[in-house]
Amino acid sequence: MIIAIDGPAGSGKSTVAQLVAQEMGFLMLNTGAMYRAVGVAVHEAGVSFDDEAACVAVAQSLDLDMDPEGRLLSRGHVVDADGLLGEGPGAWASKVALLPGVRTVLVAAQRRVGERWDLVTEGRDTTTVVFPDADFKFFVTASLAERARRRMAQTGFHKNLEALMIDIEKRDRQDEQREVAPLVRDPDAIEVLTDGLSIQRVVELILKVVQHGGPDRGASPQRSRSSPS
Ligand code: C5P
Repeated sequence: MIIAIDGPAGSGKSTVAQLVAQEMGFLMLNTGAMYRAVGVAVHEAGVSFDDEAACVAVAQSLDLDMDPEGRLLSRGHVVDADGLLGEGPGAWASKVALLPGVRTVLVAAQRRVGERWDLVTEGRDTTTVVFPDADFKFFVTASLAERARRRMAQTGFHKNLEALMIDIEKRDRQDEQREVAPLVRDPDAIEVLTDGLSIQRVVELILKVVQHGGPDRGASPQRSRSSPS
């Protein structure tokens, strides 16, 4: 089973996806981490973000995958998740995410993971492009001010709120306006506006939909299909 959750930066979707995955006994596929890994590698290689062929070669060379514990792997080794955090890797990720060739490489890697395990996925295009046939689709979002406040709390209040709002808005614009796989709400996705809701409440709402089969879906979810093939 695939439960796909998309939404903008700072919407809380990663935390929500992680908790939903725990409750369901599924793995969580954080697709943003793959874009961040490519962004960091391109930056470190000193390759221009405008050189699509070189960025694609970097993406391919990373050979991204996921292990049975849900950790991101590159060439069979666990990637240091801390090195992918922060606005720098986020901004580099957004740049490589504009390149259709990079997206093709990463979408293929994400689908390979989806063939092996029951997943909760999270990102920008997991409901629309990567897993259009996902069993359940959600669009988790929050107002810009709320998202900036959450980011500020996460990053230890090192930046002021206005600066964070500008960063996040810029990233939203880039994600929403790009030609390939822009951030849009899939018409089948259930929108969850999280302003004023606790993470636990959002998780409960999602689990309720999943456990009741969801609107117009009739079928009850199978709890597990998974064993690595
Ligand atoms: O979700 P996260 O902030 O880690 O994503 C980093 C960037 O990677 C996003 O701003 C977006 O540009 C890109 N991304 C994407 N498609 C995804 C996941 C992330 O384009 N499925």
